[in-house]
Amino acid sequence: MNKEKKRKGRSPFVAGNWKMNKTLSEARELAKSIVKASFNLAGAEIVLCPPFTVLYEVAKLIEGSSVQLGAQDIFWEDSGAFTGEISGPMLLDVGCQYVIVGHSERRQIIKENDDIINLKIKAALRNNLFPILCIGETLEEREKGLTLSRIESQIENDLKNINQEEAAKIIIAYEPVWAIGTGKNATPDQAEEAHQYIRKILNRKYGNELANCAIILYGGSVKPENVVSLAEQDNVDGFLVGGASLDAQSFIKIIEKSIEVKQK
Ligand code: PGA
Repeated sequence: MNKEKKRKGRSPFVAGNWKMNKTLSEARELAKSIVKASFNLAGAEIVLCPPFTVLYEVAKLIEGSSVQLGAQDIFWEDSGAFTGEISGPMLLDVGCQYVIVGHSERRQIIKENDDIINLKIKAALRNNLFPILCIGETLEEREKGLTLSRIESQIENDLKNINQEEAAKIIIAYEPVWAIGTGKNATPDQAEEAHQYIRKILNRKYGNELANCAIILYGGSVKPENVVSLAEQDNVDGFLVGGASLDAQSFIKIIEKSIEVKQK
């Protein structure tokens, strides 16, 4: 990896997914506020995932702080005639250490399937980027009682031919599709059940040690108001935050509260 990973045990790990938001000047302002606050947030790993257009600028602003950089997507080839795509070597070059793969917005709107996501995970790993793999069920799947089987099939297919050493570098984000951007978060029990199950699958596939060390994030309408009860769950190691990461104060509060809960 391009920078030695500073894992403080399993948690807390908080990533902000800015999605398709923030112009250059807005990104500067947000990143500066988070960097300033980060010096008092040493108990957490903080990752910012801005849009491609501002990655380089944010990379410069976080230099010298503990804040880390992630991209929101990666193409599965490393270079070539792929108009509009961004490759692993480009992301690494610009200062990324992480990349989100398989976000439900890409699965649903751009129609990315598990085969594509598997290729993207391999591209990230080949390029020394830590994948943040997003999985999670739709509302229809939850209502039909298919939540756990959906999670299982996503892990099986997305991690096809990924060995143990590679799997140890992957962060999984459980993001129920019905909770993303809706204001309706999973209950702490629902999150814990899914996270426990993810750890069980990792245990079966890669062994106890990897499963125990794996960072499993919850994502979906995380806010300062609901983060405490989610963070209190044993298997919730942190958060992938969308909407609430666009505002420095709310993102910082989420990090502060996560540290408070996990340090108890
Ligand atoms: P949200 O998004 O926090 O706005 O629900 C989370 C995500 O999509 O990662």
